[in-house]
Amino acid sequence: MSKPKYYVSRQIVRQALYVSALVWITYATYWLCSNDNNQNVLDPSEYSIYDMNSEQYILQQKLHPPEPSSPSPKPIKKPSGDFKYHSTVLTLQTKMITNDDRGIDKHSLIYNDIFQDHGVDSVFGNLDFNQRCDLYFRNLFSHDHNWVFDPNRQLNDFESEEFKEFAKENEEAFKKAYEEIDSVRVSLRQFISEQWLQKTAVVREQTMSDYLATTRIFNKCYVTNDNKDQIKKNEDFISQQRQILEQSGKQVTPFTNTKFESMLDPSTYGASKFEYRVYPWLSRSFPIYERWTGEVFSNPPNMKQLLKSSNQESKKSINKKASKTQSKFLNQLKNSSNGKGIVISIADKHVDDTVNLIRLLRALKNALPIEIVYNGDLSKESKKKIIIAAREDFKTLPRSFNNVANMFGPGYFDPNQHGLPRQEVWFINTNNVLNNSYKEKFQGFANKLLATLFNSFEEFILMDADTIIMTNPEHFFALSGYVKSGALFFKDRAIFSRRSRGDATMFKKLSPSIVDKLMFDIPIMTDHSLKREFFKGLHHYMESGLVLLNRNKHFSSILLMQQLNFITTITNKVYGDKELFWLAFALNGDEDYQFTDHFAASAGELTPAAERVKSDGVNYQALEICSAHPAHLNPDDGTSLLWINSGFRNCHKANSIDYGSELVLGTKFKNIKTEEAFKAFYSSPLRITHAIVPPLSPDLGLLENIEGEPSGGWMLEGYCSAYMFCGYSSIGGKTTSGESNKLEGKLVTFDESARNLFNYLGDIWVGIE
Ligand SMILES: *[C@@H]1O[C@H](CO)[C@@H](O)[C@H](O)[C@H]1NC(C)=O
Ligand SMILES: *[C@@H]1O[C@H](CO)[C@@H](O)[C@H](O)[C@H]1NC(C)=O
Repeated sequence: MSKPKYYVSRQIVRQALYVSALVWITYATYWLCSNDNNQNVLDPSEYSIYDMNSEQYILQQKLHPPEPSSPSPKPIKKPSGDFKYHSTVLTLQTKMITNDDRGIDKHSLIYNDIFQDHGVDSVFGNLDFNQRCDLYFRNLFSHDHNWVFDPNRQLNDFESEEFKEFAKENEEAFKKAYEEIDSVRVSLRQFISEQWLQKTAVVREQTMSDYLATTRIFNKCYVTNDNKDQIKKNEDFISQQRQILEQSGKQVTPFTNTKFESMLDPSTYGASKFEYRVYPWLSRSFPIYERWTGEVFSNPPNMKQLLKSSNQESKKSINKKASKTQSKFLNQLKNSSNGKGIVISIADKHVDDTVNLIRLLRALKNALPIEIVYNGDLSKESKKKIIIAAREDFKTLPRSFNNVANMFGPGYFDPNQHGLPRQEVWFINTNNVLNNSYKEKFQGFANKLLATLFNSFEEFILMDADTIIMTNPEHFFALSGYVKSGALFFKDRAIFSRRSRGDATMFKKLSPSIVDKLMFDIPIMTDHSLKREFFKGLHHYMESGLVLLNRNKHFSSILLMQQLNFITTITNKVYGDKELFWLAFALNGDEDYQFTDHFAASAGELTPAAERVKSDGVNYQALEICSAHPAHLNPDDGTSLLWINSGFRNCHKANSIDYGSELVLGTKFKNIKTEEAFKAFYSSPLRITHAIVPPLSPDLGLLENIEGEPSGGWMLEGYCSAYMFCGYSSIGGKTTSGESNKLEGKLVTFDESARNLFNYLGDIWVGIE
C-alpha cells in the first residue's frame, strides 16, 4: 500500500500541485458561476478536469489567464483555521460551549478544506448530522484518495531518510551548538534527535490530530449511529443549532456541493469503504471462541442461552441474522456483545497465575463466565491446566477456612458434588482478528486492548492474571461509579514522578476540538479530565490491573483505545496500557467515566514500631507499610478492600530473587536473618492487617521538613527486585521556617473477619492446606 502522501508533507504536495490545481480550479469556479448563462460552455459530462486540450480549457485560458505561477505562487487556501473566527462559528461557540478550560484548540485539517469550499452558514444552517458525516468523509477522500490511518506510520522516525538528511545537513551547526550548550545533559545523537522532534512537531501533531478526529467522527457517524439515544441527541443538537442561527438573524445561504464533491460516487467515501481505511489492521473476522468442553464457535456466543440449557439445539451463536454482505463489521461486533463476565488476557507465561486466580474465583463463589483471551498461541498444556483448575473437584480447603465458614452461608461447599463451584471457562483466540500486516503491533500489553474489544460480553471485569479480588465479582458491577457511568477505573500509587509539561499540552491538542463539537456534537474535554493530577504532571495515574466496562455504552472509546496503541508518540508517554484506557475516553469526548477517589494503597502489615525509630531515638509519626502490592479500597465505603495486584505472595518474584543481595540491604525486615528465611517469607501469602493510602501534596512536590519525616508518600526500597514500595501514612513536618507542611493520608485497620477472609483467600491462591 502506498504511503499517505497527503499527510506526509501536505504543504509541499499542495504547493507542487499548485500549478495544475490553479488551472482547473479557476476553470471550475468559472464554470460554476457561469453555467446557466454562458452559451459557450459545453456539456460538463463531456469534459474532463484533466483535459488541457479541450475547448473548455482553451476558452478558459482566454477569459481568465492564470496568474503567473512563479516566482512566488499565492497560496490557494486561506491561512488554516480562518473559519474559526467566522461570526457564525463564534455565535454557536458562545451558545453551545459554556466552558472551555483547555487553553488550546487544535482541529483536523479536513475542516479547513470543508470551509474553504463552503460557507460556514450554509453548512451549519442546512446540513443534518448524517449530511455532515457525508461532507467530512467526502472531503477527506477527495483531497487524498490514498488516505488511511496507517498503523505503521512512524511519526518520529529516526530511521527515515528525512531524519538522516536533516542530521547531515546541519551536522556542523549542531555540533557547535551541542558543545556550547548541551553536552552535559545528553549525547550528540540525542541532541540532534531532539532538534528533529522539535522541527517535526507541527506535522506530527497535526497528523495525530487528524487521525484521532477522523476516528472519533467515523465511530460516531458510522459505528454507533444506530443507537437511539445518539440519534435523538443528534436531532436535538441540530435543531438547537438552527434555532440559534435563526435567533441571531443569520442569513442562511443554500448548501451546494462543489463540482469536485458532486463528482464523487458515494461508494468511494462511504462507511463501508472507510471502515477499511480507518481500521486497516482489522481482518474483519471474529475471534475463535472455544468453550472448556472443546466446542468451538466462530461468532460471539450467547452465554445466557448456552448456560440455561444443556440442550444441543440451543447452543447457537448470536450472529445468525447478520448477513454476509453487511460490511459494517464493527457495528456487528458491537451488536453481538451480551451478558456479563470476567475477561483475562494472558499468554503461556501467565498460566500459573491464571490457575491460582481461577481457584480464587471458585472460593469467591463466582458464577460469571470467564473468558481467557490470548493472541495466537496458548499451549494445550496451559489450557488443560486452566480447565482442570476450573472443573476438577475442589474439596480440600485450607485450614483457614474454619474461620470464615460462616461468611459464605450454606451451600458454599458441596462435598457430595464438586466442592467449590466449578467455573465456566472459555478461550478466545484473537489471532485472526488482525490483518497479517499488523499482527506484530499487538504484542505484549496491547493484547489487553484487543481483549477489551473482542471479548463477547456487554459488561465485563477485565483483569490481569495476577490480579486478586477480595469479594464476589458481582459486587464490582454494583459499585456506584460503575452503575453511574459504565466505566470504572482505579488510580495507581501516587508516586512522586513527573512527566514533562508538554505532555498535557499535547493531549489537549489531540482532544476533541471546538469544531468537532459544533459539527458533530462531540464534547470538548472538561475539568472532569483536565483537573486530574495527570494533567498537572503526575506520571502514573491509572492502575489497569482491573477495569470495569460496559462495552455497548463505550464502544467508540474502546475503538479509539486501539488506535492510540499505534501512535508511538502517545505510547511512549505512558507505561504499557495503563493510561490508555481513560485517555482514550478523554480523547474521544466520552467523559462518562469514573475513577475511584483514592489513589492506590499499600496493603500488608505495619512495620513494627521498634523498626520505625529515627536517628535521634524518636519514633516516626508516619506509619509505614512495605508491600509489593498496590491495593484498592472500595470507593463506596472507603474502608473495605476490593482488590490488590501482583499475586498473593509477599513477593511475586519469589522464585527469581537474588536473595543474597536483598539480605544485605538491611533497611527493612530486620528480623529476617537468612536467605532461606527471606525466601520463605517472599513465597508465603501476604497477610493484610492494614492499608495506607499515602497523601499527595497538591503541587505533587516533596514536603521537605526538618523532623526527618518522609517527604513523599512512597519510597522504593529495592526489595522484591525493586517491586516493593513502602507507603507512609503522613508526609512532611516542621520546616526551616518553623511552620508545618504535614499532610495526613489514610490508614485503614481491617477487622478480625476481614483479616480472616484475606488469610483464607491468600491460602487458596498460594495453595496452602
Ligand atoms: C445492530 O443493531 C441495530 C439495532 O439494534 C440494527 O439497526 C443494526 O442493523 C444492527 N447491525 C448489524 C450489523 O447487524
Ligand atoms: C491487510 O492489509 C493489507 C495492507 O494494508 C491489505 O492490502 C490487505 O487487503 C488486508 N487484508 C485484509 C484481509 O483486510
